[in-house]
Amino acid sequence: MASQKSLDVFYEPNLRLTQALGLIGYNAGYSARPGQGTFDQHQQDLVWRLLGDAPIDKRARVVDVGCGIGGPSSWIFERYQPGLLVGVEYCPSSVREAESRWAGKPVRPSFVQGDAHYLPLADNSVDVIFNLESALHYSDKRAFIRECRRVLRPGGMLCLGDITTTHKVLFTLARLVNLIDTQFSTHAKLWSARDYLKCFAETGLKLVVHEDVSREAACSLDEGLAPLFRDGMGKIPGYRGRLLYLVLMERLLRRGWMSYDLFRLTKPLV
Ligand SMILES: C[S@@+](CC[C@H](N)C(=O)[O-])C[C@H]1O[C@@H](n2cnc3c(N)ncnc32)[C@H](O)[C@@H]1O
Repeated sequence: MASQKSLDVFYEPNLRLTQALGLIGYNAGYSARPGQGTFDQHQQDLVWRLLGDAPIDKRARVVDVGCGIGGPSSWIFERYQPGLLVGVEYCPSSVREAESRWAGKPVRPSFVQGDAHYLPLADNSVDVIFNLESALHYSDKRAFIRECRRVLRPGGMLCLGDITTTHKVLFTLARLVNLIDTQFSTHAKLWSARDYLKCFAETGLKLVVHEDVSREAACSLDEGLAPLFRDGMGKIPGYRGRLLYLVLMERLLRRGWMSYDLFRLTKPLV
């Protein structure tokens, strides 16, 4: 498991970048029609795409695991007003950032520092688990998926979106790039979509939807990065490593070396 400090260091450029650009999401986004919409809208569209018809009503208990600085939690809360929305996030700095946006508001999501491998939640207590572009960091994805099964109520739904690959050797080598301080995806250990499907079946979660949105994620990243190139990076010092990371991500998604997979699953009633 990555230490909190190393994840904090990894995400620090994201924090400065999102603050400079007025963004609150840390994901690739979804753009089905090139040239339409802002990066912020694409990031929201990825959230709606992943959620699909997840059963969120005014009484629903929703957990956003790996919630970052609270973008998706905030959008889900504002759209559905669920009974409870808890964002669980490993990096203390990201929890503080998410908290600060909602400070003083009486009706709001809550954010807690916690680890996806050991969810701080009771058995059978959650209606919907949302988990977007976070599991790539988990050293034991099986443990996380077992935790999801444990905390979901029977009939509850897991919405999991992640970057995957079938070229694992390449990505093992890519982790060495960190040695030259590029901040290239510090601890990511990517699974293939097939690894996920196998683990879901072993864990007893029933697959409802599996969608490959690599093309739409690459398109969104391309559009999201365009203003950075256009306006120059001068306002956001020390960001080159993360720019390299995002450009590589876009290229690898477009060329099929990496994929962006969305899964919706339910915990069986019996
Ligand atoms: C790419 S960001 C995505 C954030 C958010 N889901 C979004 O879409 O804006 C991945 C997040 O997962 C968090 N994370 C990584 N490992 C974690 C763990 N073991 N438990 C909880 N959060 C974790 C990271 O700190 C980071 O904020």
